[in-house]
Amino acid sequence: MALWGGRFSSDTNADVAKYSESISFDKRLYRHDIMGSRAHVKMLAKAGIIPQESADAIRKELLNIQQEIESGNFKYDIALEDIHMHIESRLIEILGTEGARVHSGRSRNDQVALDIRLYLRDEIDIIIGKIREFQAALVDTASRHPKQIIPGFTHLQHAQVVLFAHHLLAYVEMLDRDAERLADCRKRIDVMPLGSGALAGSTLPLDREFVCQELNFSRVTRNSMDAVADRDFAIELASALSIFAMHTSRLSEDLILWSSQEFDFIELDDAFCTGSSLMPQKKNPDVCELTRGKTARIYGSLTALLTLCKALPMTYNRDLQEDKVALFDAIDTAEQILAVYPPMIASMQIKPENMRAAATDPALMATDIAEKLVELGVPFRTAHHRVGSFVKWCKENGKALDETTLEEMQITIPEATEEFLNLFDPDMSAGKRNITGGTGFDAVSSQLKFWQEKLG
Ligand code: ARG
Repeated sequence: MALWGGRFSSDTNADVAKYSESISFDKRLYRHDIMGSRAHVKMLAKAGIIPQESADAIRKELLNIQQEIESGNFKYDIALEDIHMHIESRLIEILGTEGARVHSGRSRNDQVALDIRLYLRDEIDIIIGKIREFQAALVDTASRHPKQIIPGFTHLQHAQVVLFAHHLLAYVEMLDRDAERLADCRKRIDVMPLGSGALAGSTLPLDREFVCQELNFSRVTRNSMDAVADRDFAIELASALSIFAMHTSRLSEDLILWSSQEFDFIELDDAFCTGSSLMPQKKNPDVCELTRGKTARIYGSLTALLTLCKALPMTYNRDLQEDKVALFDAIDTAEQILAVYPPMIASMQIKPENMRAAATDPALMATDIAEKLVELGVPFRTAHHRVGSFVKWCKENGKALDETTLEEMQITIPEATEEFLNLFDPDMSAGKRNITGGTGFDAVSSQLKFWQEKLG
């Protein structure tokens, strides 16, 4: 008989039992469920709601149950629906009526809200730690090639010369915002809902502040109805993870392009690639491709959570049980991404000569010529037009931009001097962009220093 079976006269339909169970996915909350129950009964005794001896016995037995679960000896039964009822009924099985006091002043509605918050707090800390490792791997790779030039792209067309390190540090910035978003989301997770009961609080003199302190939360929830109905924090987390995944998907796209025969800028280590069952020569960047795919999956979790909540009347509705399916999948997937990326970045080989050869395309320096004209007092729009005409002239005359004589250059750029012929040095082009945030050697070296210090 289910723990709630008092008012029922027939058993649950077998398919309904399968349909409504959540133990298959919420069993991972066992540790947090036990942590919450131990704090709850400690408070119940302190507030004089249950005898101290009952609380002591329950607290001790909960630890034994934790051991039972961790050693693999715990028996699961879908008739007991979820992790909360599994632990409570085991407690009652061992302690009899003493164990039956654990649920005083509590509902599974506030219990599950507490468990998820406790669990997510821990997972966020793990994820932020792994994002820091990921950033460190990128910074380390960047610092091993501090002056390496590559073509920078807009519209996937050669745009201007940049440093490879600058390109990698762009991803470090993205990941930093991801860590900040997660830390911000954690603030709203770090609120203690227990004591909200099913929806209306409790007639018992529960000491919520005490439980809050015991479990190291920053404050208690202010509204019992909101506390059991709210899944904003889950949506926020899925959203932060979606943005994080989108960043890794973009990085993946760069790595896929860079490792193609056409670019040939990098080679990913064999350990992070797979072959083809048919074509013997193939070495495919599957990890990167899978990351693009898994990003879609995390977006799916976000969409599921948003849709799950959008039409729910107040307060708790059983629909909310499905929150964990989406949430856990998003977390697991993000953690999988975070497990493979730092070592993949750390082990990737870069091909300096190929990067350099692509970056010596003189067309990448066209903007430098226009800016030189601006320095000489030519209005930028005029300068832009002149250089555009110069590019056209070169094209029509079958010359690269750096193959003309000064006289030829002066046909379209009358202000050009000898100095202009030296503007096609790609190292100089990238290296001298030293204003804050630029790709210059000095600017990037101070960015590298900033990140090395920050990531320690
Ligand atoms: N397994 C449920 C969930 O995950 C726990 C709360 C159930 N509450 C209820 N009144 N049926 O949402």
